[in-house]
Amino acid sequence: MSIQENLLFTPSLISPEVQAALPKGYTIRPLASDDYERGFLDVLSVLTVIGNISKAQFLVLIKLFFFTLERFFYLKAHNHEYFTLVIVSSEDRIVGAGTIFIERKFIRNTGLVGHIEDIAVDKNQQGKKLGLRIIQALKYVGAKTGCYKVILDCSEKNVPFYEKCGFQRKEVEMAWYC
Ligand code: ACO
Repeated sequence: MSIQENLLFTPSLISPEVQAALPKGYTIRPLASDDYERGFLDVLSVLTVIGNISKAQFLVLIKLFFFTLERFFYLKAHNHEYFTLVIVSSEDRIVGAGTIFIERKFIRNTGLVGHIEDIAVDKNQQGKKLGLRIIQALKYVGAKTGCYKVILDCSEKNVPFYEKCGFQRKEVEMAWYC
């Protein structure tokens, strides 16, 4: 499998300005199917409990009757809607990650809204502006795919971070757990 086939979405949606602004030796790129080995899930563990996810589970989403929908390859098949990108260190480890997915609305003249989710920077790498670069890169994807706005939910303690990333407080998040 070539590196291009290995990637979740086209690297042409990665902002060259964000790549240029990263610390030396770091790269930003779409999630790859072998990022399990590079510690992708370890980075996500700064967000919440991840569980004991195997490589197969990283690739496989659900088995429904006779149909198997694979996580990575399911997302790749929908890569006009799901964009997960990662920052990789010079040691070839994943040190940051973030996702934007694109919602297709009827309102706003069938407008598109980008939803930012699961922003995570490795504990040892925080404070190096990697979080800021991930958000800038996701905003770039949102703009390039034609979104009229990009939104996200966050905790009160992360509000100053997102304000520094150019977001402003709007509305209230509500949740219902099934
Ligand atoms: N409070 C105040 N300012 C902050 C905070 C904070 N909690 N976090 C970062 N900042 C500031 C930084 O000081 C910096 O300011 P400066 O430009 O004046 O120097 C600016 O925001 C950019 O900071 P980064 O260095 O890019 O932040 P970092 O790489 O550490 O990433 C992040 C921030 C993503 C919140 C990281 O700390 C993290 O992974 N936290 C744990 C997981 C988490 O909470 N993720 C967000 C969940 S919400 C969601 O996913 C939509």
